[in-house]
Amino acid sequence: MSPEVAVIGLGRVGLPLAVCFADAGLAVLGVDKDADRLAALRDGRMPFKEPGTDEVLARGLAAGRLAWTERAAEAAAADAIVLTLGTPTFSHIEIDMSDIRTVLDALLPHLREGHLLVLRSTVAPGTTEFVAGYLEKHRGFTVGEDVFVAHVPERIAADRFMAEIGTLPCIVGGVGEGSGERAARLFEVLGAPVVATSPVQAELAKIWANILRYATFALPNLLMMDCERYDANVFEVIDLINRDYPRGGIARPGFTAGTCLRKDFAFSEERSNAPGMLLAVSRVNESVPLFLVEGMRRRLGSLRERKVAVLGLAFKRDTDDERDSLSHKLIRLLERELADVAVHDPVVATPTASFSEAIAGADAVVVATDHSEYANPDGLAAIAAEAAPDCLVVDPWNAFGAAQVFGYASELAALTGAAR
Ligand SMILES: NC(=O)c1ccc[n+]([C@@H]2O[C@H](COP(=O)([O-])OP(=O)(O)OC[C@H]3O[C@@H](n4cnc5c(N)ncnc54)[C@H](O)[C@@H]3O)[C@@H](O)[C@H]2O)c1
Repeated sequence: MSPEVAVIGLGRVGLPLAVCFADAGLAVLGVDKDADRLAALRDGRMPFKEPGTDEVLARGLAAGRLAWTERAAEAAAADAIVLTLGTPTFSHIEIDMSDIRTVLDALLPHLREGHLLVLRSTVAPGTTEFVAGYLEKHRGFTVGEDVFVAHVPERIAADRFMAEIGTLPCIVGGVGEGSGERAARLFEVLGAPVVATSPVQAELAKIWANILRYATFALPNLLMMDCERYDANVFEVIDLINRDYPRGGIARPGFTAGTCLRKDFAFSEERSNAPGMLLAVSRVNESVPLFLVEGMRRRLGSLRERKVAVLGLAFKRDTDDERDSLSHKLIRLLERELADVAVHDPVVATPTASFSEAIAGADAVVVATDHSEYANPDGLAAIAAEAAPDCLVVDPWNAFGAAQVFGYASELAALTGAAR
């Protein structure tokens, strides 16, 4: 099979995209340096959970339209090369594009006229023009005429890939004359409407959509902390703000994290006109685990050798993605208090205790991820029955529906009618 498109970086973004290209009829070469990942794919298995992709992977393999390699240079056999590599941030508040640089260097000697290179990763403003300039500087191409470079940002949320890939407007920012058109032709096969723009506008639209979400959730998180200071109930205040009020709409508190939200704001902070504004937003979201630990200490005293059950390791509801989850930060903070931490998560691949084991005899139970499994009265009833008497329940998501960030299990169970 001679590949029509190569996807380099078979992570949570690249792999679902690769299988969707194959499902749309293209011959696809998937590239990843992770041997375990490729071994799973060669076995016909998705290495992580993304609803609906197992079937699409199986179809692509059966049709002979998917092949795998660890060597980035082999991607040059395809006319179109899509980079879906990770783009973390350095602690210097600066994009870390070392994976992109490594792959570009591997591809450079093999690029030829007619090649299309698409940046699907989230990048700092100006990165697409940098990539185009890099190809011009090192190979003497004129981008937009003899090779083509575009930014086509991934905007799909984890767990919604198959539901959104064919419908979310696909933003295409091409460099020079022909790049946008070439990239649009490639992505049109997935069925979503294409919106053409400039590379920097595509970059800004992507990172500012995430900044909007990150700031949107920082406000109720800050309000939750303010409410503790004034002995107010954040869920009642939120209801007062939103109820029948046309200018309401504040979100609910929770652990706001994940690989995208936790880092993408820094791509704007690199060269901001309001340095620190988005760092403050990050500080609010990042301080929620500490706020909860301090709230527990205020109510229970020292946490030393007290059993604390942490419910949920994933960064958000019903996903198995633990990367950059604030649950891990919460656990680290609790361990620094010398608490005995037990963890339950019904979705992630990491082995955890069962729900009953985690809550048995617990002095406190924290809902760290609002998995749908927790959103039922049985959980609260079980805690009231099986945890220590006067077990403190910490539920910033209001997963149990008792509308208290901190409350005692027996009282909350009575309040919600969940008592056994
Ligand atoms: N995860 C999401 O929900 C999401 C959503 C939108 C955008 N994004 C953005 O998409 C990009 C990719 O995110 P992800 O979550 O898929 O990352 P990821 O870390 O899951 O995947 C990156 C993959 O690239 C591979 N890789 C790294 N260097 C390589 C090399 N030199 N050669 C071959 N393979 C290499 C890694 O092994 C890994 O499998 C990031 O820029 C991210 O910000 C992610």
